[in-house]
Amino acid sequence: MTDASDPVKVHRGLAGVSVTDTRISRSDVDGSLVYRGYPIWEIATNAGFEETAYLILNGNLPTGSQLESFTEGLRKRGEVPPKVLRIMRELGRDADPIDAIRTAVSALGSLDSEKDLLGKQMSLEAKMSVLAANSHRVPRGEALRTRKSGLRFSDNLLQMLTTKEATEYERRVFERVMMLYLEHDLNASSFTVRVVASTLADPYAAASAGLASLKGPLHGGANEAAMEMLLSVKDPAKAGEFLQAAFKEKRKIVGFGHRVYKEFDPRARLCKEYLREMLARRGRDDTLYRLCDAMESEMWKAKRIPPNLDFYAAPIFYSLGIEVPLYTPIFAACRIFGWMAHYNEQLENNKLIRPDSTYVGLSGLKYVPIQDRSL
Ligand code: ACO
Repeated sequence: MTDASDPVKVHRGLAGVSVTDTRISRSDVDGSLVYRGYPIWEIATNAGFEETAYLILNGNLPTGSQLESFTEGLRKRGEVPPKVLRIMRELGRDADPIDAIRTAVSALGSLDSEKDLLGKQMSLEAKMSVLAANSHRVPRGEALRTRKSGLRFSDNLLQMLTTKEATEYERRVFERVMMLYLEHDLNASSFTVRVVASTLADPYAAASAGLASLKGPLHGGANEAAMEMLLSVKDPAKAGEFLQAAFKEKRKIVGFGHRVYKEFDPRARLCKEYLREMLARRGRDDTLYRLCDAMESEMWKAKRIPPNLDFYAAPIFYSLGIEVPLYTPIFAACRIFGWMAHYNEQLENNKLIRPDSTYVGLSGLKYVPIQDRSL
């Protein structure tokens, strides 16, 4: 890519603008998503979370010994320093979970004992799931839930998030959803991470900026808002009525729409099937699935806007017995791996990300002393 000497005007929100080359992943308008060359359904069907994280970070699927040492590297870095937990606790019971994680990650920037870049990144990747699972508990003064040895990364997160027993199929569904949340090319938070990386700031700074970006309801915050919406609509027969009322008030429907996917989000399709199958295997009430399906078809009929990952991940988390305020933290616990891949890729061929802007304000004004100013 050449450096432009004349400013180039781009679309609002950088829509459709390619700002960097990447080898990490690729989402496309036709509903395809590729992780390091592998179609997402290949990965979701066959791989495990640690393998996928390794793939995203390193560019190849690990051998047995590579996977073992990666898993061990994460395992031995899972303990959060007590001082960081005390800082989280100080935030108090009303703290937003993402604020609590972000504060903890900032504190880790000063308190983590890791010396080299890889160690710092692995420390963040390992600790993020503990911070996410406890982001609601610790500020409320509840006991810390910790990792258990010998469990898969995803099983470990699940057992910290909820005490509800899950079947092997349900645990596998959770692992798959985590893999789908792991990476998604230049989404808002990964771009934020790259901007911070381009200043040569450390991974803690980049991850806390990523968390700030993830918090918003147009990005990671959407999974919680989608679940709250589903809980408020309740009845599949009310889906159309709810949507029409929202359209009248010009409200956006959370969990629908995407900057890239205009026909379908492949991750949402996979999660829809996981949700259906999970509820079917329980042989119990499938109202939640029917409600999602009704919302999806009414939304398509009215606006031709498809559901995104958050819309179908949220009811899966709900059915697994996870509290709603923990949904965006789960997103963070997965996406930290993608963020670190982007951090490293940015540094491989770094140039400070510092765009230009077109000044459209006033000019040539004369300074007026304060006593002479009026409204
Ligand atoms: N509900 C109603 N209308 C919508 C929605 C929606 N969820 N999404 C898009 N639209 C409409 C817009 O109102 C706009 O209509 P207009 O042209 O008549 O003004 C048109 O579709 C284009 O929408 P934009 O917001 O400009 O599209 P953009 O690519 O910027 O937005 C975004 C993508 C932000 C995700 C948007 O679809 C949205 O706000 N969705 C709801 C929030 C959400 O679910 N976010 C999660 C994203 S996925 C993720 O983080 C894993």
